[in-house]
Amino acid sequence: MARRKHHLVQTTSITKLCTTKDIVTINGMFPGPVVYAQEDDRVIIKVTNETPYNATIHWHGVRQRLTCWSDGPSYITQCPIQSGQTFTYEFTLVQQKGTLLWHAHFSWLRGTVYGAIVVYPKTGVPYPFQFPYEEHTIILGEYFLQDLVQLERQVLASGGAPPVANAYTINGHPGPNYNCSANDVYQINVVPGKTYLLRIINAALNMENFFGIANHKLTIVEADAEYTKPYTVDRVMLGPGQTMNVLVTANQPIGKYSMAMGAYMSARNVQFQNISAVAYFQYLGAVPNSVAFPPQLPSFNDNLAVKTVMDGLRSLNPANVPKEIDTNLFFTIGLNVDKCNSKTPQQNCQGVNNGVMAASMNNISFIKPNISLLEAYYKKINGLYTEDFPDVPLKFYDFVNGAPNTIPNDTSSMNGTRTHVLDYGTRVQLILQDTGTVSTENHPIHLHGYSFYVVGYGSGNYNPQTAQLNLVDPPYMNTIGVPVGGWAAIRFVADNPGVWFMHCHLEVHLSWGLSMVFIVKNGNGVLETLPHPPADLPRC
Ligand code: C2O
Repeated sequence: MARRKHHLVQTTSITKLCTTKDIVTINGMFPGPVVYAQEDDRVIIKVTNETPYNATIHWHGVRQRLTCWSDGPSYITQCPIQSGQTFTYEFTLVQQKGTLLWHAHFSWLRGTVYGAIVVYPKTGVPYPFQFPYEEHTIILGEYFLQDLVQLERQVLASGGAPPVANAYTINGHPGPNYNCSANDVYQINVVPGKTYLLRIINAALNMENFFGIANHKLTIVEADAEYTKPYTVDRVMLGPGQTMNVLVTANQPIGKYSMAMGAYMSARNVQFQNISAVAYFQYLGAVPNSVAFPPQLPSFNDNLAVKTVMDGLRSLNPANVPKEIDTNLFFTIGLNVDKCNSKTPQQNCQGVNNGVMAASMNNISFIKPNISLLEAYYKKINGLYTEDFPDVPLKFYDFVNGAPNTIPNDTSSMNGTRTHVLDYGTRVQLILQDTGTVSTENHPIHLHGYSFYVVGYGSGNYNPQTAQLNLVDPPYMNTIGVPVGGWAAIRFVADNPGVWFMHCHLEVHLSWGLSMVFIVKNGNGVLETLPHPPADLPRC
């Protein structure tokens, strides 16, 4: 079946935290409208940009089989939709069901331009778990009082770290811990004894977050829109871009319970918002203005709590993991500090050691081109990118504990618009290795156009001799939080031709260059070939 929608990108006045300002929305809604569909549906969404900014929409986790043109990252698969222009995204949810998200993919606009994608199984196909009494979508966000396009510019011009969010939000509401927000609280009313399905999405800009409900257990049944073996925990951690479906049973004494979103910050010396956003999980029969049971979240640096959640994520059904590998890739991920070249260092070199913050993969900071790479590739336009993104770092050293050179403070990266070309059908294993060049940190790495099996992860430097891999029931994800000071191993078959962005989903790291691009070549015949670009593809 086809689902048609018209999304208007608009500037909308909103009052939060006692401040009225314009934010960018879709159809005036914050969070944006939910896209409902069923497995295998065709989704056709016309996007008209009524704001003065550039805009694109990315359908995060949609595998975009043969529809790379509709993927959405600006300057990667399309030029942005300019003010007053329209572009129609069209794709099929081939063998996909579950919870995903969509978000803007231009500058930092996704800070307010985001919403859920809910894909139901085909008619007559049940969930592989108890049918819930009700379902609710829970979108975690970060709210900034600044204009987000200006904010990205300012942060890049400063050379330093971004300011912390003014508030965390649950479905757009900061909750009672924040100024002026006693009535700006999201609430779910629950019937005692019933079981609820919560579709949790992290749409925060620059933070990873814990989420939990006071005195209640969460049973994870799905991660990144793939079923998992049921796994019961006290709380979950989601990096931005990740989604999780959990079952919660209202089996506690009648009352009002807090649902809370708090910080997970694994890096050293990084400022973050430390006030939790709170929503209510309120039982029918509870006294409405009774005091809520307080949230119990781990402390912000509880790496073990994160590992505990990860350890329990297993595909429900035996996974189709590539057993043989054609290409072994090893990419380091991390931050850098480049030398200050400014005549006004006080203004422009506010990074660590009076340098300029950067980030990289294999020590190469990605520079965005100014027309779309997919167009450049498809139309064979020369000079916009190179095809030499390396399989492994240029230097091997103690990535976690050492700097890239013997000079302890040479922490700079190279720049480039480098891509890695894969032949159609290549079976890829990719090791993502965190570095401690500036500080070790958990990075949520997202690959466009694919889901991948997370066959292993661990702490320290990856060692092929000792790494344990799960080729039986690993989770099938689109965003993996690579452990702080550790590594993750992912596998996928490059069977979707196109130009696919891979990046850290912490927006500031993306701005600093923590990304690269895979070009997957066409195979044989129409079913393995990327079709022509749509006629309304925006021009730069
Ligand atoms: Cu959800 Cu390129 O991102």
